[in-house]
Amino acid sequence: MSASSAPAHPPVFDLIGHTPLMPLRFAAEGLTVWAKAEFLNPSGSIKDRLARCLIEDAEARGLLRPDSIILECSSGNTGISLAMVGAAKGYQVHIAMSDTASIERRHLMHQLGAEVHLFKATKGYATGINLTLELAAREPRYFLPRQFENPINARDHEEGTAVEILEQTGGRVDAFVAGYGTGGTLVGCGRGLRRQCPNVRVFAMEPAEAAMLSGECPCCHLIEGIAGGYVPPLLVGANLDGIVKIASGEAVSMARRLSREFGLLVGTSSGGNVAAALRLARELGPDARVVTVLCDRAERYYSTPLFDH
Ligand SMILES: Cc1ncc(COP(=O)(O)O)c(C=O)c1O
Repeated sequence: MSASSAPAHPPVFDLIGHTPLMPLRFAAEGLTVWAKAEFLNPSGSIKDRLARCLIEDAEARGLLRPDSIILECSSGNTGISLAMVGAAKGYQVHIAMSDTASIERRHLMHQLGAEVHLFKATKGYATGINLTLELAAREPRYFLPRQFENPINARDHEEGTAVEILEQTGGRVDAFVAGYGTGGTLVGCGRGLRRQCPNVRVFAMEPAEAAMLSGECPCCHLIEGIAGGYVPPLLVGANLDGIVKIASGEAVSMARRLSREFGLLVGTSSGGNVAAALRLARELGPDARVVTVLCDRAERYYSTPLFDH
């Protein structure tokens, strides 16, 4: 399908957002945390919200032509989501992605018709962002949504995800915690929740091995999709109440526990988020309502240590 004949509102867009918020009761710990099931978005991750918004905004501002090629640097999930939106709206999509991202991510993008440009992971996201700028300098048809700095990223979570959480909790949230890739989820949800719950405490989850927000040097970790060796611009000066460091092993164990004890097939960053939420629930007390997000599905991790057992 070409962009000139594609529908303005493809049917798959109706499947984006409005995800359930579930209480997860940890009997052994005697604690409950609340998790928003973002893995139920149609391409399987929280990034579907952003991809639709970025493209609709670019169309509204006249930045996309039928022959435009959407080009973005992504740890994989934004790439898959943009590939889905591109397929539904008739745009070509090219994604710059680290060569260490799971092969499943690459397969899903190809299945949706996108092209993948791999870069060496050693220098983190900055390498991929520079690659997109170099490619765009040579090809005028490229359109760069720039998820790492585009204010729409956080705004979409502020006006969408956070509003849903407030509706689903009757406006009572004591703490919100999430890992950061671009920081859009964390900053946007934090801002949106604070509007109605001024006392809500907002925490960043980061891998203990790459705790850059905590001022430490980034090292290898296993929580794919977050902490890409770079503090994203959206997070600079963000209003945070604290940081929860989660070791890769803890994130992997919790992701497996979510599958075995709750029947939730989710990825490693979801495990990290729930491990962080549980730690906060322990610290803040059993009456505190701690909310987090389950970012994506387990199926994109078959080839990773999450399935090594
Ligand atoms: C698996 C996973 N978890 C969490 C995130 C973090 O989301 P954000 O970019 O909104 O910080 C990402 C980002 O791509 C991701 O892929």
